Amino acid sequence: MNSFESAQEILKNAVIYFKDQPIGTVASSDSRLEAVNYSHCFVRDFFPGALVFLMQGDYGIVKNFLATMQGLQAQQTTMEGHKRAPGLMPASFKIKYKEGREELRADFGERAIGRVAPVDSAMWWMILLALYSKISGDQSLRENDDFQTSIKEILDLYLKESFETSPAMLVPDGCFMIDRRMGVYGHPLEIQALLFAMLRCSKYLLLDKNENHLILAMVEKRLQALRSYMRIYYWLDKDALNKIHRFRSEEFGLDVENVLNIFPESIPAWLDGWMDEECGYLVGNLGAGRMDFRFFALGNLLSILFDVLSEQQSQMIMNLYQRNWQGLVGEMPAKIVYPALVDQEWALLTGCDAKNAPWSYHNGGNWPVLLWTLVAASIQTGREDIAQSALDIAERRLQKDNWPEYYDGKAGSLVGRRANYCQNWTCSAYLLAYKWVHEKKTRSILQDLKFSL
Ligand code: GLC
Repeated sequence: MNSFESAQEILKNAVIYFKDQPIGTVASSDSRLEAVNYSHCFVRDFFPGALVFLMQGDYGIVKNFLATMQGLQAQQTTMEGHKRAPGLMPASFKIKYKEGREELRADFGERAIGRVAPVDSAMWWMILLALYSKISGDQSLRENDDFQTSIKEILDLYLKESFETSPAMLVPDGCFMIDRRMGVYGHPLEIQALLFAMLRCSKYLLLDKNENHLILAMVEKRLQALRSYMRIYYWLDKDALNKIHRFRSEEFGLDVENVLNIFPESIPAWLDGWMDEECGYLVGNLGAGRMDFRFFALGNLLSILFDVLSEQQSQMIMNLYQRNWQGLVGEMPAKIVYPALVDQEWALLTGCDAKNAPWSYHNGGNWPVLLWTLVAASIQTGREDIAQSALDIAERRLQKDNWPEYYDGKAGSLVGRRANYCQNWTCSAYLLAYKWVHEKKTRSILQDLKFSL
């Protein structure tokens, strides 16, 4: 069996059925699972699998998944003294058997390790709903009243004013792919990229009715503001770095240069010499007196895919990959974050999380699931050589290593110490990358992902 067949088979066997209908996939089909929640269907994990199904014309499972998630919104429990946030969607769900009957049980973070809230779930769901409607041509979900209500509730929740001073969205630590404490609270890049895509999708999804015009006008304004904010304030290249290096601090007033009061002393030593004139990237997080200079792969790659960045900025990120291949890809595409937190910083920002030891798991591990975004971004920017090299590297290892969840080490050469095998989004990412590299006609979905209406 070749790699493609092996990945396909694992994905097929990972499908879960509810009342005989396929509704999603488990996160990992490893029979020796350590953590019970890997037998759940995670929203973010299913997304690349859903793209595989959509590309194969297997629309049923995606439709059922979307409907299941919509129905599960009602299962959210509320803490005493709190109101329910109707727009929230669960991180994952599983099928339970009770007195011989099948039941679905969702997790909104109330059981999750560390009790993290899944802020990304509703955004992945909405993006998938738009893709499904566009690709399958089936408008029945989108036009359904309950779905329209869910879309509006999500927008209400995600656009609600809280304590914002910028167009970026404020969230707690660990509320997305990195679902443990990693110093990613505040305005993490990945959340902003997803928010941008979700808002764009909502323009397509919401019906053109009078009652929707106000919200659509707000969405449009927020989209423009968010995009400029990301392109200007999150963007770091050699020029920007030089400017920050000479920033004055404590500037008060409206017309100041250093609006967030970033202290130049916070620029980490590794950045000096890391980028040449033709490279750049979006920083990981921004807040008062805080620029997180770490390079987060998913946020950067999604910003290319979802059309957040200018053409030139997208090319500069791909140049960064090319010139820092060893650090950002190494022996397995791709590193989730670069560089790792070490020593005191690791202790303080992770709370001494042993699974997130330096160069492991979320803290600088290499995650094969990132292959789909790396290959997609390479193809979208016309960098076929990068797409091909990434696929070649992954191909050499994944099947032999039994499709692990993540790799450890600075170069990403070691199968993750506590990684599951047969991790489904690893398989899906490989299947997508393989198809896009080898079958040009499958690439149309990459245009759809831009949702530039
Ligand atoms: C880990 C990952 C998370 C993923 C889950 C299931 O918790 O951090 O992003 O959804 O595993 O694979």
